[in-house]
Amino acid sequence: MTTEALRPGQQFRPAIERKDRWWVEPLISGLVLVAFGLYATWAALFGNAGYYAAPYLSPFYSPCLVVTCEHVSLPLFGAWWALSPAILILWVPLGFRTTCYYYRKAYYRAFFWSPPACAVPDARKRYSGETKFPFILQNLHRYFFWLSIPILVFLWVDVFMAFNFDGRFGIGLGTVILAANTTLLTLYTASCHAGRHLCGGGLKQFSSAPVRFSLWKIVSRLNERHMQIAWVSLIGVALTDLYVRLLAAGIISEPRWVF
Ligand code: FES
Repeated sequence: MTTEALRPGQQFRPAIERKDRWWVEPLISGLVLVAFGLYATWAALFGNAGYYAAPYLSPFYSPCLVVTCEHVSLPLFGAWWALSPAILILWVPLGFRTTCYYYRKAYYRAFFWSPPACAVPDARKRYSGETKFPFILQNLHRYFFWLSIPILVFLWVDVFMAFNFDGRFGIGLGTVILAANTTLLTLYTASCHAGRHLCGGGLKQFSSAPVRFSLWKIVSRLNERHMQIAWVSLIGVALTDLYVRLLAAGIISEPRWVF
């Protein structure tokens, strides 16, 4: 950026001196996030038919908490619940992703241009950080971390159920897809910065807590890949939902081995 002397009353307007295509990354991030947001909104609010293709339950609807669900995970809500059952649980992964340290960087760059890229000036003149509403709510991330863990447990139960074909043990392509999706979501949670702090934060000496130190080392290795895991798991969860829907609608069939 240029730092020429300013005339009295003149505002400093830094120039963009980067010559590379710095705008490609925020553009792609923005497009992927918008595409995912539109698909997830449709799937959660309006696509509440076809989210279960026995024995596979879409991750957008897991756990299914209403007695009228096609596949009831936990019957906490009666038939009086007339809206999509996905609404009851999707706020947790949505809140977890929205407040994620990595996604914050991605969507601040893509949508707010604050800043759009390294060494590129902010689009806004003033910067208040995350100290005011609504961005102060980003501090809830550590609580969303805890809330996402029971959801993961249910997703692993779904993987277990995906081996059950009318009481017989089997494996279908959907079993593999559900297992891969849940593994990715587990890695996403395990690589979270809040989880890393939980393992190793607040310690004066690692030698006084060898188990936490070992966990912290594992989580730190995963944390280095948090950005990549965030994108792959985001796309993975949408594709898993799509696969279940296509199967439920009879648009595709799958290879299965039932014993
Ligand atoms: Fe991304 Fe916690 S920092 S999930």
